[in-house]
Amino acid sequence: MMEERFEGADEFVVFAGTANPALADAVARELGITLAQSRVERFPDGELSVRLLESVRRKEVYLIQPTAPPVNDRLMELLAFADGCRRSAAARVTAVVPYFGYARADRRNRRREPITASMVAGLIQSVGIDHVLTVDLHSPQIEGFFQVPVDSLSAVAPVCDALAGTLPPDLTVVSPDAGRVKTASEFAERLRAPLAIIMKRRESGTRTEVTHLVGDVRGRACLIVDDMISTGGTLVSSIHALREAGAREFQIAATHGLLVGDACARLRDAGVTRVVVTDTVDVPERQWSALHVVSLAPLLAEAIRRMIRRESVSEMG
Ligand code: R5P
Repeated sequence: MMEERFEGADEFVVFAGTANPALADAVARELGITLAQSRVERFPDGELSVRLLESVRRKEVYLIQPTAPPVNDRLMELLAFADGCRRSAAARVTAVVPYFGYARADRRNRRREPITASMVAGLIQSVGIDHVLTVDLHSPQIEGFFQVPVDSLSAVAPVCDALAGTLPPDLTVVSPDAGRVKTASEFAERLRAPLAIIMKRRESGTRTEVTHLVGDVRGRACLIVDDMISTGGTLVSSIHALREAGAREFQIAATHGLLVGDACARLRDAGVTRVVVTDTVDVPERQWSALHVVSLAPLLAEAIRRMIRRESVSEMG
């Protein structure tokens, strides 16, 4: 059912790229609007053609496009949409990028490496995007790569709401690495559970090695909290370490469920009983009964509504 339209609704349009049409539809429903029409075609040589089928002249434009796999195609499409809007005299362009691809390339780990997340931020600004709305950026420093405002929403509250009342009483929240300690603490506080922290070393794009475990998990049910699941390698190695330390049950909460390749099978084989992800990306495998998807459409719609009304986004509950 469509929500009632709100004041100012005629002055903005929302376009959806091809990355996650179901999420874009759900956001539009929450806003009580229909998505603006556009056409995206791929030529046989791999080139992309984007056409806006509605006027954006002097309008506020929102482009919904997570840069999920295939990341480069999705990114290129976002850039083409934005360029089309700017050349068609849009008043303002906001990129709604619920999942920001390349976010993990946010620093130089070795010499002679690029900082690709910074390069992507530069590309996004070069096509005239005025504002970025995203969810659970991999690291806070990515905001610093942009000169334009970035609003990074948190999925902690909606995911905890979805979990509430379904978790075992002997729960410990686990951060699978140092970068996730702040988020895991927020989960622990909301779920009134103790916190354990794993320290890991990344060996390659698909392999990580656990070096330390801080906290007692003996006999406990663990909820491992992460920003994303790609191959599942980080979580599987975390589970091995937790099992060795005596943990008895494993659940996962992650914002971005990329679940590439055989990630679901790896998690299932590792003994995971439940995986909760959100719909920031189009979750590839929904047949696994342990996999639950929480929609962030209400959260994203509320942020867009506030931006249109010139209200605070940071003060969202
Ligand atoms: C790493 O710092 C991230 O927060 C994730 O833990 C990691 O990138 C997930 O990737 P994978 O599932 O391939 O281990």
